[in-house]
Amino acid sequence: MGRGHLIVFEGADGVGKSTQVGLLAAWLAAAGRAAVVVREPGGTPVGEAIRQLLLQPDHVMEPLTETLLFGAARHEVVERVIRPALAGGRVVLADRFTLSTVAYQHFGAGVPRAHVDTVNDWATGGLVPDLTLLLTAPVPRLTHRDRMEQRDDGFHDRVREGYRMLSREHEEDTSPSGWRRLVVLPQEGDTARVAAAVLDAVRPLLDGEEGRGA
Ligand code: TYD
Repeated sequence: MGRGHLIVFEGADGVGKSTQVGLLAAWLAAAGRAAVVVREPGGTPVGEAIRQLLLQPDHVMEPLTETLLFGAARHEVVERVIRPALAGGRVVLADRFTLSTVAYQHFGAGVPRAHVDTVNDWATGGLVPDLTLLLTAPVPRLTHRDRMEQRDDGFHDRVREGYRMLSREHEEDTSPSGWRRLVVLPQEGDTARVAAAVLDAVRPLLDGEEGRGA
């Protein structure tokens, strides 16, 4: 049985994360390593109910309330889905994780970083991804507008700048066997080119399983 891996996709709204999650899931399935896919907020019944609260366009709430709700949804999916899957040797693909809360609630909405970091620590119990793929796009496409997406352009600019700062903050992070923990994927290119870059980033992680008592 292979060792479990948590691979996270991050990025601003409209950068095509979900498409890339689907393509990687299909590639893994074809390679005989069917992945568990989760999205945040969501991925559990309570998480999906919290998602409704968060994304409902007519809900007004404090930024810290929002942070706590994202944290609550994350804790559910970590404890009930992600940890058991990793313990069973599965690959888990997560559409957003802790960096989203830093980018959106801290950089975007102004919640103090220490609060966001504390909520993330509580929510994950210290579980960190093996690899985070940060997708960027010059002109994000917003097709539908939920409560988060209908915020003003300034908010979305701050989120994108927040992700840029996070990529610098994490550029030195490496795993024990040397692969990059956070990989920023190209600004330009079509879906297939981005998917190829995703595979280049993921392969060393899966290849590294040999010789580590996998
Ligand atoms: P979703 O429709 O899943 O957006 P996307 O397809 O871009 O992932 O909606 C999730 C929204 O919630 C998105 O605008 C990002 C936001 N969000 C936060 O603000 N904080 C968080 O911690 C998470 C996980 C998401």
